[in-house]
Amino acid sequence: MQEYIQKVKDIITSKDKQSMAYVQTFGCQLNFSEGEKIKGLLAQMGYGLTDIPDNADIIIFNTCAVRENAEDRVFGQIGAIKRFKRTNPNLIVGISGCMAQEKHICDKVKKSYPYVDIVFGTSAMDKFPKLLLNVLNGQKHAFDITEYGDIIDESFNQVRDSKIFASVPIMYGCNNFCTYCIVPYVRGRERSRKSKTIINEVTQLVYNGYKEIMLLGQNVNSYGNDLEDEISFPELLRSINAIEGDFIIRFMSSHPKDATPELIDTIFECDKVGKHLHLPVQCGSNSILQAMNRRYTIEKYLEIIDYARSKCEDFSFTTDIIIGFPNETDADFQSTVDLIKRVKYDNIYSFIYSKRSGTKASLIDDKVSDETKGRRMREFLAVQRDITDKSYKRFIGRTMRVLVSGESKTKGVLTGKSSEYIIVEFIGDSSLIGKFVNVKITQSRNWSVFGELI
Ligand code: 5AD
Ligand code: SF4
Repeated sequence: MQEYIQKVKDIITSKDKQSMAYVQTFGCQLNFSEGEKIKGLLAQMGYGLTDIPDNADIIIFNTCAVRENAEDRVFGQIGAIKRFKRTNPNLIVGISGCMAQEKHICDKVKKSYPYVDIVFGTSAMDKFPKLLLNVLNGQKHAFDITEYGDIIDESFNQVRDSKIFASVPIMYGCNNFCTYCIVPYVRGRERSRKSKTIINEVTQLVYNGYKEIMLLGQNVNSYGNDLEDEISFPELLRSINAIEGDFIIRFMSSHPKDATPELIDTIFECDKVGKHLHLPVQCGSNSILQAMNRRYTIEKYLEIIDYARSKCEDFSFTTDIIIGFPNETDADFQSTVDLIKRVKYDNIYSFIYSKRSGTKASLIDDKVSDETKGRRMREFLAVQRDITDKSYKRFIGRTMRVLVSGESKTKGVLTGKSSEYIIVEFIGDSSLIGKFVNVKITQSRNWSVFGELI
């Protein structure tokens, strides 16, 4: 890769004007982390980075394939830059990420968006410099969506978007094959990074002043299972907790089938780990869970919830829910509503089921209308809003430690997140951004709480 980086750099730096790159990422935090690596490569190849696509000499769309609306948004953006290409014929356009790994998407790009120059999939990021060099040398379509298997490349320099928050992938891929999900097809099997490498990276980040470390993986609880003699996820959490410095550790996502009481104990034991667990349940009906191939029952799921709540009665949970999985009945939907009333999640990321070609669920003949799914979603959101409204009131009168992330939309008001991953707003000076502060909560609002700095 280095050889191609240098060759591109020689071309880019020989130009009279600084060449600029714009990278737009869609989707999950892992994709954002990879977007930062793409920016790192572009910077190494001599490009300046810009937030304004109009100024760019190269535009990369780092895409997400998890739901159809994410793909539609990407196609909308790719369509919109056609006019840029007219005014600047030398503009290079590239697509990376999960969509790029799908064969039918590449075919569509070739046919309907012929001005796209570069496509590289999730496992071909190290091929990007070579593809770019080919395009600079006049090749028309430089596409590489080969599945390169189980290699983890540790050689990327990242250009991090934030100076406060750092995400650190601990593993890539997924072995679970939930029947609705495209991820195992576009990201391959689970590959864990070595714990030593992860711990060194976090130590360096903390040394450089980062205050929140987000450990990422499709299923962090199965961390290390693919490596011999590697530590488990709870052990990794404990090792990172032992790193000196004032910072908060978060992680995402946990598969309920692999979440253990030891994980919960570890969250309580480790002072730097946020007191919150994102535990995607997907739905409240056992028959749908089985059709989704989730490999747990609601009873088993609730055991983990109850275990955590036996240690802290209002322990904060968030979850992901899919509404309208093929042939979901009213009774299945009702079980999901009952579940969220029972668990009282602090936040839910809910999605209407989106058919992904290539997955098992896409083969099911779904008899439920879009109208019914829409109605269920509206009803679901109303129930969740009510739960959040009531449950956020429990914070009134408490003092929460908040990592200040920035200014809110209201002038003079700062925003941040508490250990429980609750959005906290308060009046304060912007010099507090990036610091931990204590806030005494006086009000609960829509999806946030408000308080006074103390
Ligand atoms: N349709 C709707 N939601 C989906 N998710 C994954 N695949 C789909 C799909 N086909 C949701 C799941 C997962 C989250 C990241 O995205 O809830 O936990
Ligand atoms: Fe998709 Fe299931 Fe893997 Fe999550 S655990 S990425 S939902 S297959």
